[in-house]
Amino acid sequence: MRRRFVFHSLPAIVLLMGILSMVHGQYTDAPTATANVKNGSHASALYVLGDSSVDCGDNTLFYPLLHGRLSLYPCNGSDATLLPQLLAEKIGLTSIRPFYRQNGTLEEVLGGLNFGSTQAKIMNQGSYSHQSLNQQLRQVSETMQLLQLQLREDTALQFTKSSIFFLSFGKEDYIDQFFHNSSSQMFQHSTQYFATILVKQMANAARYLYDANARKIICLGILPLGCTPRMAWELNRTSVGYYNGNGCVEHVNELVFEYNRLLDEQIAKLNMEFSDAHIVFCDVYNGTMEIINEPRLYGFEDVKSACCGLGLNGAMIGCISMDMACDQASTHVWWDLFNPTQAVNKILADAIWSGQPIPNLCRPVTIHELVNMKV
Ligand SMILES: *[C@@H]1O[C@H](CO)[C@@H](O)[C@H](O)[C@H]1NC(C)=O
Ligand SMILES: *[C@@H]1O[C@H](CO)[C@@H](O)[C@H](O)[C@H]1NC(C)=O
Ligand SMILES: *[C@@H]1O[C@H](CO)[C@@H](O)[C@H](O)[C@H]1NC(C)=O
Ligand SMILES: *[C@@H]1O[C@H](CO)[C@@H](O)[C@H](O)[C@H]1NC(C)=O
Ligand SMILES: *[C@@H]1O[C@H](CO)[C@@H](O)[C@H](O)[C@H]1NC(C)=O
Ligand SMILES: *[C@@H]1O[C@H](CO)[C@@H](O)[C@H](O)[C@H]1NC(C)=O
Repeated sequence: MRRRFVFHSLPAIVLLMGILSMVHGQYTDAPTATANVKNGSHASALYVLGDSSVDCGDNTLFYPLLHGRLSLYPCNGSDATLLPQLLAEKIGLTSIRPFYRQNGTLEEVLGGLNFGSTQAKIMNQGSYSHQSLNQQLRQVSETMQLLQLQLREDTALQFTKSSIFFLSFGKEDYIDQFFHNSSSQMFQHSTQYFATILVKQMANAARYLYDANARKIICLGILPLGCTPRMAWELNRTSVGYYNGNGCVEHVNELVFEYNRLLDEQIAKLNMEFSDAHIVFCDVYNGTMEIINEPRLYGFEDVKSACCGLGLNGAMIGCISMDMACDQASTHVWWDLFNPTQAVNKILADAIWSGQPIPNLCRPVTIHELVNMKV
């Protein structure tokens, strides 16, 4: 069964190697390395898939051309400020390379890769489909097949099983819907349907990864999109928004909340379907709302305006230069139009790792517990 899979995928592997050699101008040598299964930790590597919540804009060949909403720096320029990278540090994995920036050596693949790309969506209709969820899944699959070819079979299998696959998607799908259909009645009525389709795709992604031998998978929910500077500004301007006390657009939050609820439910079902896998849902919506509701408790002063942006609340034009950034980014909840600051990510990383300072964001276990589970 597995051999047949590998055989049919050979052209893809040849293509991947071709791309890597094109990027770096050389073929990698036939590998002699063995998988580095970390001592004292049961997570061999971290493989990251997602959108601007996992990538600063490094991992794309066409980023400046494609970026429609004028925020060239959705984080401070360093992936180290984002949630999965902060998590990797806690696990003890420090060399996660962006897929398009790797040097093509087995060593880098074994260190973990970030397939995620700013503006990646779950749905791949539309013109910018090349960095969608499905595209990233194909890159993961090719990478795992590369491991099977280059390592001993049982080593590759154990390496993949004990690696963590981190998925954070959905935000861009909702942003897209809102900016194209913000005044459309139809979208209002079919929102439940939209969430159902997105969650179904995420469940299929988990199944796909399971078939590629992944056994430890983390799926993140969507943060409270209605509280982001751009969403608040845009919907205020078009007067569709209804604000609650903390300046968040209530109906936008309700929509992503529904997506999160369905994803949480779906993951509980998947854990029953795959009893030898551990799939964790982490509710970053709840965590971010806790911060927005009690900002001072967590050291924040500004829950509305972007640290790096122009116009009212920094919401009209995104972060097109790092020089635009405010002096005290760590007192802001929001970095730019749609993304939280490193300070928020750090709190969320602590919380999903250990359950502190915000409890119960991840179900059924914390990420620390997930890492230490035997597979
Ligand atoms: C793993 O760590 C333990 C102590 O922490 C040590 O006794 C053991 O030799 C280590 N194993 C390897 C393979 O490094
Ligand atoms: C971004 O944040 C990281 C981590 O705090 C820091 O090391 C880096 O210097 C920052 N980059 C810029 C351009 O401010
Ligand atoms: C590839 O990158 C790794 C570290 O990320 C480095 O140790 C190695 O020397 C590099 N190999 C080549 C051929 O550039
Ligand atoms: C939203 O707009 C896009 C085009 O911008 C259209 O294809 C899609 O069907 C619309 N969706 C809904 C739910 O109205
Ligand atoms: C909405 O716009 C009005 C003026 O245009 C402004 O006073 C108000 O603060 C805005 N509300 C939010 C939540 O941005
Ligand atoms: C977060 O979830 C907890 C239950 O786990 C709930 O008590 C709390 O009200 C939620 N917070 C927000 C801001 O929704």
